[in-house]
Amino acid sequence: MNPPASTRPPVTVEVHLAPDALESALSDEVRAGLTSTPRAIPPKWLYDERGSELFEEITLTPEYYPTNREAEIFETYAADIAAQSGADTMVELGSGSSRKTRLLLEAFQARGNFVRFVPFDVSEDFLRSSAETIAADFNDLEIHAVVGDFERHLGLLPKAGCRMFAFLGSTIGNLEPPARARFLAELADAMNPGDTLLLGTDLVKDVDRLEAAYNDAAGVTAQFSLNVLNVINRELDADFNLDAFTHVARWNPDEEWIEIFLRSEADQTVRVEALDLTVDFAADELLGIEVSTKFRPEKIATELGAVGLTIEQIFTDAAGDFAVTLARKA
Ligand code: SAH
Ligand code: AVI
Repeated sequence: MNPPASTRPPVTVEVHLAPDALESALSDEVRAGLTSTPRAIPPKWLYDERGSELFEEITLTPEYYPTNREAEIFETYAADIAAQSGADTMVELGSGSSRKTRLLLEAFQARGNFVRFVPFDVSEDFLRSSAETIAADFNDLEIHAVVGDFERHLGLLPKAGCRMFAFLGSTIGNLEPPARARFLAELADAMNPGDTLLLGTDLVKDVDRLEAAYNDAAGVTAQFSLNVLNVINRELDADFNLDAFTHVARWNPDEEWIEIFLRSEADQTVRVEALDLTVDFAADELLGIEVSTKFRPEKIATELGAVGLTIEQIFTDAAGDFAVTLARKA
């Protein structure tokens, strides 16, 4: 029987991106992004607390299939994943709500030797409340949340135990190829021999389904995209007019990714006071905010093999929409 909630150890939180460091990273990356050609803002800035909530809403739209397909894989194979990984600690990168992760945590706990969950995310408030929600339902689990950037702070993650790194939801697809190669090399470097990686990747499929998933009829994805302008307005004292930009998501067959932009609906000038920066947008100019790469099994194998991770098994849903790969560092 679980002990009463009051006896559970408190959730601990380690912060590698305190608000001032976050502000300074945002300043540097927005300046670089708004002064480059073409203009682009890195997708991590989509996730303030409102952005994290909007992402959760996206996962509930009928068009956005990846979350349900990955959950289906865990419903079917979580026990196999837990047995094969053998980990006693799970580190979840870009953990968000950790809603699907519960299926994995239950399976690992059922094996009896699982002790620690380390959710890791850039979005501090959302991470804190998600960690508390998990804690309320997993009384015996030590929960150590880490606030940081998975492109900068992988080396600072707790090293104790036999770890499984879970990188779910196909968030790896939001990194473009050079950044993805760098990320995977740093991750493999941070892993100890015997540690495993559980990697969720959305697969290449019919273009209409892909484009629909990023253009839901209720417009939640458009709100999620536009929210990045709210973040810049609030944090950097900018005056982006959200009514003058439109969400655009389209399939790029050469790159095999969905690319998401905000299109400027008119010639307009935006002032970013905190950066002492004035930016002119032409009508129809596109501001890049995200790519969402779709994978083929060969690409997953090549990229993991390149950093010395050996694939043990690839799990897919019944429709073959999504893949979850378990790989190990020798
Ligand atoms: N893993 C969850 C959430 C995916 S949304 C799922 O599968 O549903 C992407 C998550 O990654 C968000 O919670 C976001 O805050 C986080 N994230 C995005 N970029 C990040 C970065 N550079 N470092 C750490 N977390 C990041
Ligand atoms: C978090 N990431 C995997 C999502 C995706 O599908 O690329 C983010 C997203 N952007 C718009 N919709 C969902």
